[in-house]
Parts: sequence; structure tokens; C-alpha cells
Amino acid sequence: MKLTYFGHSAFLIQSENFNGLIDPFLTGNSHTTITPEDLESITHIFITHGHGDHIGDAMAIAKKFNPLIICNYEISNYLSQKGFKTHPLQIGGKRKFDFGVVKMTPALHGSGIEEGDKIIEGGLAGGFIIEIKGKKIYHAGDTGLSMEMKLLEREKIDIALLPIGGNFTMDIEDAVLAVDFIKPKKVIPIHYKTFEVINVEPEEFKKRVENVEVEILPPGRTIEV
Ligand code: NI
Ligand code: MN
Repeated sequence: MKLTYFGHSAFLIQSENFNGLIDPFLTGNSHTTITPEDLESITHIFITHGHGDHIGDAMAIAKKFNPLIICNYEISNYLSQKGFKTHPLQIGGKRKFDFGVVKMTPALHGSGIEEGDKIIEGGLAGGFIIEIKGKKIYHAGDTGLSMEMKLLEREKIDIALLPIGGNFTMDIEDAVLAVDFIKPKKVIPIHYKTFEVINVEPEEFKKRVENVEVEILPPGRTIEV
């Protein structure tokens, strides 16, 4: 399985015929040079919550590739009314798909969908545990530190993608505690540098995490999982 970082919270997971995007915020993402036009044959899109920097280019990409969009029930309704192919999950819910197993995890955050000058109800913010061929990736979405993360230790996460930027999510100090709660094999920091208020140094996070490997991915970098 391959994991590619696009900056902010956006990732591409590839495994055989599966090309899954998570939170595909590319247009307006100052931390990447990748554009929706660079993408090939997307089969699935995962959306953690309704904010613009997570739904991102999902609709434009979905128009091109007609992927299955996996997200919470409210965002699923919103997108299916626009003609997109969706699968709704809710927090705590787990579902086996042809590519693997997906579980939606809690996040302490909002999920309003911005449309013009309106905010549309977008359910609860979440994260995902995506298990493909025995490997588990946890994408936390946007979240504050929560005690629920202690439960994730039981999941035996291989790679945790954790926000560190503060202001809207955990900052470095809280993300270090989250790593201690989750005890993943590896952690990749996300949701930093993109905006002025989340302009923190991932090296600082790496310095402070003990006993767990921290890999700082520059946007565009692909790693083998
Ligand atoms: Ni958000
Ligand atoms: Mn965000």
C-alpha cells in the first residue's frame, strides 16, 4: 500500500485497484503544488467533516471520476442530493468494503458545510480508521485532544495522521499526549503551515514525541506502508 501526502489533511492511499483520497483540499492549499488535474482514476473519497479545507475539491474530483464518497450521514445526504455516489457512516460505525474495512472515529470539532454565505448542517466531525490488507491508517480529521483516543490503543494503529497546528485542532503539546494515548507504530503530523494561525514547526513535534517514530512528509512525498 502507498500513502501520498498533499499537504494540510489531504492524502492519497493506493492499493491495487483502490485509489482513495482523504480530505482532498488542493485548490487554495498553500502547502502543496498538486492540483486536481494531477490526479488519476480516483475510486473513493473520504471526507472527515464539512469544512471547506476538508471537502475541498471533492465535488470537482468526483465529477471527473465518479468515486464512492464515504462520509457522515449528513454530508452523504448533501452530496447525494447533488448526484454524487456516497456511502454514509456514523461515529463508531464500521463497514467492510471491497478494498478493506472503514471505521468512523469521534472528533471534537464542528462540521458545518460552507455554501456561498450559508452554513449547512453537516452532522458531527469525525475521523477514519482505514484497514487495508492488515495495515491500519488512522486519519484523525480535525480534532481537539480527547479521552476517546485512549480507546484507539486497542486498534493497534500502524500509522496515525494527527493534526498539530493548534487554534482549530490539537496543538503540538496536545498532539504529543494523543500519541501517548494511541500508541501507533508511526505518526505523521498534519494540518499545519497552511494558514497563518496554524503555522507551527513539525520538527518541534518530532522532538517532543518519545518512543514512537515521527515522519514529517513534505507535500508530494509517497511512502510505502
Ligand atoms: Ni475543520
Ligand atoms: Mn481544518
